[in-house]
Amino acid sequence: MCEVVHMKQIKHCSTRRNPYCKLDSAASNSPFHHENELAYQKWKTHKLKDYPTSISQLVVPLNDPKALTVQEYQQIKDCLLKTNMVIYDIGRDIQEDKSIPEQLGIQLGIHSLDRNECADDDGFTSIQVVDDGLHAIYIPYSEKGINWHTDGYYNRLSEQIYSMILHCVRPAPEGGENQLWDPEIIYMMLRDKNPDYIKALMEPDAMTIPKNVLNGQLVRPDRSGPVFMITDEGRLHMRYTARARNVIWKEDSLTQEAQQTLRALLNSDSDYLFQGRLEAGQGLVCNNVLHTRTAFKDDKDNPRLLYRGRYFDKIMF
Ligand SMILES: [Fe+2]
Repeated sequence: MCEVVHMKQIKHCSTRRNPYCKLDSAASNSPFHHENELAYQKWKTHKLKDYPTSISQLVVPLNDPKALTVQEYQQIKDCLLKTNMVIYDIGRDIQEDKSIPEQLGIQLGIHSLDRNECADDDGFTSIQVVDDGLHAIYIPYSEKGINWHTDGYYNRLSEQIYSMILHCVRPAPEGGENQLWDPEIIYMMLRDKNPDYIKALMEPDAMTIPKNVLNGQLVRPDRSGPVFMITDEGRLHMRYTARARNVIWKEDSLTQEAQQTLRALLNSDSDYLFQGRLEAGQGLVCNNVLHTRTAFKDDKDNPRLLYRGRYFDKIMF
């Protein structure tokens, strides 16, 4: 098989009533809270123990993705808990069948799809080359590569994409590989360089996604928010895009240094960076990890096709 594939000081947060700094919730005890050094070190030790260093370690073969066995479910769970991502492999070429990612998602407890403007009627999005209409202006529907991002980084903060499924029906004959970074690993690398970077990137105005205007119509207003957020459950959530025209970074020197360091980390070589291509019958299930896509060459007679489901749900075990 192919190698596929919080915010300033606490006082500052509380006085500003930042909804993403939940001091009385699990977030204040989270290892991802910048003041919880002991919890962070404990978490880090556990995180790095037996952390996969090859993408093949993320692959879980499935007999029937619509009816997971107890063992398959456990393998998926273990991999997701460790790396926030898993690659399933049905092991055979399959026909176009969107019920595969749909049913797999349901078995993992995710079902609230983000029915964005390019989604199909069922809420899933067919990622393929489209030359006309609304799709034509967006890079995912072209043969171009896509830089580091998390999905839905431009969504309003109340509608974050916490999980995602990317199911491959047909790969491109050439290219279309993905690189994958676990956001928790990137957080760790950044915090270990300078904890103040984390504080800066947890500020509610760390990055602003400029408004989207199409044919004179406002599709989306400017949206500001943090890069790193702590969820109600104390988990880490990340919003990010490396595409310069899609983001305006806060101008203070610390934020600038933090975002430049983050960019450099993403583009560095590491055992923790996974890279590969989804083949037919394979798919990625993840907690919206950081990812790229390389450019590809499409075959008009056998066009590249992937189904993407973006979910408002968190995968909870
Ligand atoms: Fe994406």
